[in-house]
Amino acid sequence: MSRPLPYLAFLYFFLAAPAFSQMVPSQENYGTVVINNYSKHSGMEAVVFDHWLHRAKFTCRLCHIDIGFTMEGGATAISAADNMNGYYCGSCHDGRRVFEGREIFASCAEEYTPEEGKRCARCHSTGKTEARLYDFQTFTRKLPRVFGKLIDWEQAEKEGIIKPVDYLEGISSKRPSLEAQKDFTIMVRSMRWADVTFSHEKHIIWNGCEVCHPLIYPSSKQGTLQYSMADIMDGQSCGVCHVSVAFSVWLCSKCHTKSGK
Ligand code: HEC
Ligand code: HEC
Ligand code: HEC
Ligand code: HEC
Ligand code: HEC
Ligand code: HEC
Repeated sequence: MSRPLPYLAFLYFFLAAPAFSQMVPSQENYGTVVINNYSKHSGMEAVVFDHWLHRAKFTCRLCHIDIGFTMEGGATAISAADNMNGYYCGSCHDGRRVFEGREIFASCAEEYTPEEGKRCARCHSTGKTEARLYDFQTFTRKLPRVFGKLIDWEQAEKEGIIKPVDYLEGISSKRPSLEAQKDFTIMVRSMRWADVTFSHEKHIIWNGCEVCHPLIYPSSKQGTLQYSMADIMDGQSCGVCHVSVAFSVWLCSKCHTKSGK
């Protein structure tokens, strides 16, 4: 029979306790990326990008494969010129593309009227939210929660409360969807910590195949996975997503579900 190893969990929490509040700052800031390679140098506020808003509307795959944002804050090195040329944020934020019945507001510009300039602060917004239309509390009120607090994105998608879009006209190409692989169990090497069930089917809704193969899992041969929990917490393997955007690694029992070994 499997039983959680209380002392081991305790050790993890004990050693990592100071990092806890940093890794999961609050639901509101979880998955928020502040982008500031160039803004402050140009006298603009840094850019605040929220996953809670965008992932409710689009799949991870659409942005991280079709549009090409890296899964590392700041690493894409987006510039104002890129956006104005229709890349990165500008793929959607071009002032013309219609989504949910209205034009998505445009991103950067060199010349603009004071009226048009009001939109700059919707993105270049560090520390200020007055210019913004979306508010975290209002937007996420209707979403289901796990443990009473954290947003349960998987459930929200399953219930059809959110329907993330996976295709963008002019950016994505239509392709046949590959067949989902079967769920499999990742044996946890040490002690009696419950094994992990990995569901391809549930992951491809958000990630397609391309977010994981070949970048995160180069050989798609099951059984070659060689990461420790420490590596995962450090942002590798499952941790690429489950440390900062998908549900947090601190929810041990969401992954370690398979008892009975
Ligand atoms: C949809 C979001 C968005 C909006 C709206 C937006 N920007 Fe940007 N802008 C960005 C991002 C992302 C960057 C890259 C941030 C960084 O690394 O500092 C950026 C960078 C910049 C830079 C830095 C210089 C450079 O060459 O990259 C300037 C200047 C700039 N924007 C001006 C503006 C102005 C002026 C407006 C309003 C007319 C505006 N932006 C509106 C997203 C936006
Ligand atoms: C609308 C586009 C968009 C969607 C949808 C999206 N992302 Fe992102 N993601 C971004 C951008 C932009 C960044 C920041 C890139 C940069 O700063 O260079 C980012 C960064 C990340 C990072 C790095 C975070 C950090 O703190 O360093 C991870 C991990 C990530 N995304 C995972 C996901 C996952 C998982 C999903 C789906 C649940 C998702 N993203 C959906 C645009 C998106
Ligand atoms: C795949 C399309 C897509 C991409 C790429 C994208 N966005 Fe958005 N974004 C949207 C849509 C749609 C909305 C909702 C707009 C509305 O309802 O008016 C939105 C809303 C926002 C808002 C909320 C504004 C407010 O007033 O509350 C911010 C901030 C924002 N985006 C920043 C960014 C930044 C910064 C980037 C690039 C790093 C980016 N977005 C890339 C589609 C996208
Ligand atoms: C969230 C990440 C993720 C996504 C998305 C994903 N995979 Fe995988 N895949 C994995 C992991 C993890 C393994 C196991 C790797 C290992 O053990 O080395 C794996 C293994 C595999 C294997 C070998 C499995 C076996 O039974 O031998 C194949 C084939 C595969 N994936 C194909 C796909 C296809 C096709 C898609 C899209 C329909 C896809 N994967 C989407 C993470 C992912
Ligand atoms: C490319 C990003 C990514 C990677 C890598 C990834 N996940 Fe996920 N995972 C997600 C997203 C997005 C969800 C949807 C729920 C959410 O965002 O909280 C999810 C959901 C889940 C769920 C709940 C759904 C289910 O299957 O019951 C489990 C469990 C899970 N992941 C385990 C894992 C494990 C174990 C690994 C590593 C072998 C892994 N994930 C790797 C992005 C990822
Ligand atoms: C996103 C999924 C996920 C979450 C959440 C998660 N684990 Fe793991 N864990 C794994 C996977 C996958 C492995 C197997 C790694 C391998 O052997 O390749 C693992 C392995 C382990 C191991 C075996 C020893 C080691 O270091 O590899 C222990 C112990 C463990 N996890 C404890 C925890 C604890 C405690 C938590 C909560 C703080 C937790 N796990 C949360 C996916 C997860």
